Amino acid sequence: MKPPLNNMKPNYLLWSSSYSVLILAFVVPFFVISVLVSSLGFTSLLSWSWRFGNVLETEDHASSSSLAFSATATPPRRPPQVLEAAAQAHNITSSSKPNEEVVPHQNIGEKQGMVWINGTEFDETNGTSAIITSTPIKRYSRLEKLEANLAGVRASIREAARVRNLTSTHEDPDYVPHGPIYRNANAFHRSYLEMEKHFKIFVYGEGEPPIFHNGPCKSIYSTEGRSIHEMEMENVYRTRDPDEALVYFLPFSVVMLVQYLYVADSHDTEPIGRAVIDYVNVISDKHPFWNRSLGADHFMISCHHWGPSTSAYVPNLYHNSIRVLCNANTSEGFNPSKDVSFPEIHLRTGETEGLLGGLSPSQRSILAFFAGRLSGHIRYLLLNEWKEKDQDVQVYDQFPNGVSYESMLKKNRFCLCPSGYEVASPRVVEAIYAECVPVLISDSYVPPFSDVLEWKSFSVQVKVKDIPNIKRILKGISQSQYLRMQRKVKQVQRHFVVNGLLE
Ligand SMILES: *[C@@H]1O[C@H](CO)[C@@H](O)[C@H](O)[C@H]1NC(C)=O
Ligand SMILES: *[C@@H]1O[C@H](CO)[C@@H](O)[C@H](O)[C@H]1NC(C)=O
Ligand SMILES: *[C@@H]1O[C@H](CO)[C@@H](O)[C@H](O)[C@H]1NC(C)=O
Ligand SMILES: *[C@@H]1O[C@H](CO)[C@@H](O)[C@H](O)[C@H]1NC(C)=O
Ligand SMILES: *[C@@H]1O[C@H](CO)[C@@H](O)[C@H](O)[C@H]1NC(C)=O
Ligand SMILES: *[C@@H]1O[C@H](CO)[C@@H](O)[C@H](O)[C@H]1NC(C)=O
Repeated sequence: MKPPLNNMKPNYLLWSSSYSVLILAFVVPFFVISVLVSSLGFTSLLSWSWRFGNVLETEDHASSSSLAFSATATPPRRPPQVLEAAAQAHNITSSSKPNEEVVPHQNIGEKQGMVWINGTEFDETNGTSAIITSTPIKRYSRLEKLEANLAGVRASIREAARVRNLTSTHEDPDYVPHGPIYRNANAFHRSYLEMEKHFKIFVYGEGEPPIFHNGPCKSIYSTEGRSIHEMEMENVYRTRDPDEALVYFLPFSVVMLVQYLYVADSHDTEPIGRAVIDYVNVISDKHPFWNRSLGADHFMISCHHWGPSTSAYVPNLYHNSIRVLCNANTSEGFNPSKDVSFPEIHLRTGETEGLLGGLSPSQRSILAFFAGRLSGHIRYLLLNEWKEKDQDVQVYDQFPNGVSYESMLKKNRFCLCPSGYEVASPRVVEAIYAECVPVLISDSYVPPFSDVLEWKSFSVQVKVKDIPNIKRILKGISQSQYLRMQRKVKQVQRHFVVNGLLE
């Protein structure tokens, strides 16, 4: 049975949501902060500091909630850099006056009076560069237009985040996000509409399958392969003109790199690292785009637990690029202000058939449930504490014979999702599919699509030190509170359902 939401405008599902996150990550890195500041207030902001603390510190936004919106707020780091770096990379000479017609927005004028000349930064305020004669080359003005355009997009999303009343005129009401499952539904909606208008991805053609342009569409790594295939297909976001692109996709699959280049049990990931270094060298030699932003407008996707460590072989990839990762471990360098947390979805057959839906709340008889291998210290603590101890909190490392795992998920009130050897667990999405309220038990984990989704509204987050208190914590959630959460799990489900994008 397919729930009715599956019939809604298909591009509003998982993948489009990920695009939104991408555009959020690229176009409006500060938008997230704006939304947070405006929607949660300062206290809540602090309670979420596990996620945003570093951003707030480095950007010095914590002091004033209005700062994020004010015209004088520090502009997003990336675009001005892109513009300047591009000018530098192209050895551009510029007219002596900043071109205010082409670059009207405040954000771009971060360094008004500063221009890039023959690869050097010049200060115009005291007239030292008045002698420049050459005119900008064509790409520069295209890039300027693009940046100006993006500045408009940013302003529009900020405006939408602030003025929460904007009612959409969209003809399909289901298409319009609303409700507390979003941090700021209005901003998300606007971001989405802007994305549809402006977002363009260029996919590098270099590299051959099976390692490049390819990936697994089944198994625990399915979201890696599926999104790589999705990027490769013709779609409204893909462009063949790299000068028109807002982001550049590096189409390698870490799962495939591991499969083809890693010798089992060798503990030698050097060949994998070598391949990624070589790949980035090739594209940075052949195309101007990597060098001009030092990778900041490039992205990779990986659901392999080695995704983060693989990206670390290229420092600019690790520090600058947008890394779309399932293993979104902040202790392993996941940076929520630029990286994207992506859901890990275990598609055993490649289909979601039969996984969606579950019993109504009143028929859910078991308080909490977990079944899975003992991997990692969190699971050790969980099993140690709860295995075969309590009928309310059923925890198994060996799943009981004769019971189907999926059917168990469908009849629990809460589904425990402890991290294993990596922070991400496919159980989070399994729970959401089965309409079971997920209980995240992890350290340093940024849950998927956190830029957009308000995880607190539809999940419970239990600290590792509170594992012994799980039963008390879950029992402490009132029936009405539970019903609200469970309803939101059903609402958010559509963002985790994989589009039927493959044959
Ligand atoms: C930049 O290079 C051009 C030649 O391409 C030269 O004429 C000009 O003087 C240089 N400008 C500066 C400031 O060095
Ligand atoms: C810029 O162009 C000038 C003259 O064409 C050249 O001498 C200089 O090395 C170039 N600078 C860079 C950074 O490529
Ligand atoms: C131009 O101004 C900058 C600061 O705005 C200063 O650092 C620089 O020394 C000045 N250059 C000259 C030639 O006065
Ligand atoms: C939203 O609020 C702004 C100002 O706060 C107002 O100008 C605008 O008319 C409102 N829009 C709607 C659709 O209510
Ligand atoms: C980018 O930079 C690298 C290293 O600095 C250089 O080898 C490469 O030629 C540059 N690429 C382009 C297209 O200029
Ligand atoms: C997250 O990363 C840290 C640092 O590498 C590591 O110690 C920790 O085990 C990771 N968490 C999980 C659940 O793998």
